[in-house]
Amino acid sequence: MVSNTIQFIYNNQICSIENPDPNKTVLDYVRNDLKKNGTKEGCAEGGCGACTVVLGELKNSKLVYKSINSCISFLPSVNGKHLILVEDLMSKKNELHPIQEAMVKFHGSQCGFCTPGFIMSLFAMYKNFKKFDDEIIEETLSGNLCRCTGYRPIIDAAKSLNKKKDNDHFKKDQTKIINLLKKINNNEVEIFHKNKKYFSPKSLNNLKKIIKKNPHSYFLSGGTDLSLGVTKLRGEIKSIISLNSVKELKFVKKNKNYIEVGAGVSLYDFQNIIKSYYLDFYNILKRYGSVQIRNVGTVSGNIATASPIGDTLPLLLSLDAVIKIQTKNTLKIIPLDQFFISYRKTKLKKGDFVYSVKIPINKKNFFKAYKISKRFDDDISTVCASFNLLIKNNKIVKAKIAYGGMSEIPKRATSIEKILDNSIFSKELFLKAQNLIKDDFSPIDDMRASKNYRIEIAKNLLMKFFYEISKKKNIRINQ
Ligand SMILES: Cc1cc2nc3c(=O)[nH]c(=O)nc-3n(C[C@H](O)[C@H](O)[C@H](O)COP(=O)(O)OP(=O)(O)OC[C@H]3O[C@@H](n4cnc5c(N)ncnc54)[C@H](O)[C@@H]3O)c2cc1C
Ligand code: FES
Ligand code: FES
Repeated sequence: MVSNTIQFIYNNQICSIENPDPNKTVLDYVRNDLKKNGTKEGCAEGGCGACTVVLGELKNSKLVYKSINSCISFLPSVNGKHLILVEDLMSKKNELHPIQEAMVKFHGSQCGFCTPGFIMSLFAMYKNFKKFDDEIIEETLSGNLCRCTGYRPIIDAAKSLNKKKDNDHFKKDQTKIINLLKKINNNEVEIFHKNKKYFSPKSLNNLKKIIKKNPHSYFLSGGTDLSLGVTKLRGEIKSIISLNSVKELKFVKKNKNYIEVGAGVSLYDFQNIIKSYYLDFYNILKRYGSVQIRNVGTVSGNIATASPIGDTLPLLLSLDAVIKIQTKNTLKIIPLDQFFISYRKTKLKKGDFVYSVKIPINKKNFFKAYKISKRFDDDISTVCASFNLLIKNNKIVKAKIAYGGMSEIPKRATSIEKILDNSIFSKELFLKAQNLIKDDFSPIDDMRASKNYRIEIAKNLLMKFFYEISKKKNIRINQ
């Protein structure tokens, strides 16, 4: 069934909005229409977490809770979900939620501007996990900034939740919410709001039909890049085709040779899949934006942006990933290293979209990746490097090396690869290879780093890789 009305659960009831403005953010809806001002606007670009709200959704008939940045999420993205705001946490008897109690007890708030966002991130953690160790807490809070309290009291508050049993009012209303979500979940949405259109098909077939009729539309995956055109550049996106509800794109195929990830899989889900194959890929993903960003952003969206500093791109390049592109007539397969043409330009033609990415599994290879950025969490790379080597009897059989932040596109270091291939694995070889960085890359000076800094970092990362695999341990400055 196609409908021009989005439906979601708010306050244990089904809410319907007919033909909403598809460029309106969830944050604007919450503050201006619902008049709930607990959710704050700080940066309007997904960077501070003040606007964090939680969406409950069904996964295999179970409720999962996702924290999102409402400032960069378009309103139709709440369709079929349970919207939870900071105002909803108190019980009907006006008792504080255990998270709010803990924040009060541990003095987790001063001016209070960031507090609703922290509470909502902690709420998603509280509902999704049973135990909260340091790693889970740090990851949970990586997308929330506080400029006055400092983080220790907030982390203490989070740790204290380990002693609380989850029997809040959301738990009590769980069955009711699941039933309501089942009731509204079947709508395929087509919105025509003044001069703007928004489509959210549920099947690949319908997606293809919509693309044919609306070839000049923008695809929407997580919107963590696309939405900034509205929230920061103050532009309008006239026609949007959301890929988020297309069932056929939400898949992960695994066998002993490769993993294939469909365009509809979030970065957060992907990080937990890739962990058992390439630990460094997982470690880089844990530093990709924040949980709020990874809950919605996708690998395919990262690939389609072709950003020179897209974090997954050098890793996928060095792993020899291929992508499947859905064109008008066929599903075309191309190696990722033939996909990027120039700055943010790819081989995608109008109406084509990235269907999936296929990553070979090479358990015998040494794979390592490094991200250099000004902040550890929630920051874009200055340089990202990825190394994938097959070594047999101390001889390098095949080297695959790629860098981000070193060129207008993420790129393989072909001169370095050439000198490493079929050579004895030695320090002298790597020292020689270092000097070829300048043959492969000519980076620019920009606000993140100078050209010289980038070149030095790229050289140092190559040596770090060498020392780490020869000593079989990671070298960290703080060790
Ligand atoms: C606060 C913040 C932190 C960030 N941190 C990082 C970071 O650490 N590392 C990093 O690499 N990036 C980071 N980004 C950038 C952003 O997350 C990426 O660009 C992201 O990968 C985009 O994916 P998405 O699914 O959100 O795509 P969208 O924003 O939905 O789309 C991006 C572009 O690709 C197109 N598109 C989307 N999906 C497809 C598809 N399947 N086929 C064809 N075209 C498609 C869209 O039309 C749009 O032009 C950050 C962004 C923000 C706001
Ligand atoms: S307002 Fe800063 S992340 Fe949304
Ligand atoms: S309490 Fe003031 S910004 Fe966090």
